[in-house]
Amino acid sequence: MNDQVMATWRNAHLQGLILRRLEPSDLDAVAKALQAGEGYTQTTAPAETWQDIRAGLAGFGEDGVNEGFVVGEGGVEAPIAFLLYRRRNRATDDFGEGNILGLLEDGVFPADGRFLQVHDLWVAPRARRRGIARALKRALEAAAASEGFGMIYTVTETTHQAALTLNEQLGYLEVYRGPMWDDVERVGLTKPIG
Ligand SMILES: CC(C)(COP(=O)(O)OP(=O)(O)OC[C@H]1O[C@@H](n2cnc3c(N)ncnc32)[C@H](O)[C@@H]1OP(=O)(O)O)[C@@H](O)C(=O)NCCC(=O)NCCS
Repeated sequence: MNDQVMATWRNAHLQGLILRRLEPSDLDAVAKALQAGEGYTQTTAPAETWQDIRAGLAGFGEDGVNEGFVVGEGGVEAPIAFLLYRRRNRATDDFGEGNILGLLEDGVFPADGRFLQVHDLWVAPRARRRGIARALKRALEAAAASEGFGMIYTVTETTHQAALTLNEQLGYLEVYRGPMWDDVERVGLTKPIG
């Protein structure tokens, strides 16, 4: 973890909580936490098992593209929060047909195309409203700045008031509103860095 990220984390004054890089060995616990589907509208699509979700997280913490931060608490084995993200490049990545990231106009992205995409953000229910999500997102901003990524991109559902307020407080701006990969209405938000 680089110094800027750690300094940002310390500034959040979350006593007793440790920030570290996601390791592949965290992914079972991450997938089990995500299986509850919190923050997502239930659709008619069949519910995924935690093993399906785990399979979709292959590469996180080890391939240099898919990364994460994990928050640990002394004496507790499972992470109490995590933020998963991807290093992206609008100029060279293949986003696949219909993906909003490929459809947004060029002007939304930094000139060199490099940005970080938030993939998942989760805080254990018992640890919510202590500023952990905000601190994780600020740590991501510090990582983006120190690695020269000019933007962060994130998505939330239009009905997810907690996530919308969090992003608004942090200065994210709406760049897209509408359906994405299913019928659910979502918002794409960006924050310029640097
Ligand atoms: C959304 C979530 C990540 C927020 O985590 P958190 O650590 O509780 O958030 P924070 O304490 O950092 O809150 C930061 C700000 O977000 C807003 N916020 C967070 N939770 C909120 C809630 N339940 N209701 C209203 N506003 C909320 C508030 O403005 C808050 O600032 P404040 O406490 O000073 O008023 C957490 O509730 C969670 O993991 N939910 C399930 C998964 C999920 O929805 N992930 C996001 C998908 S886009």
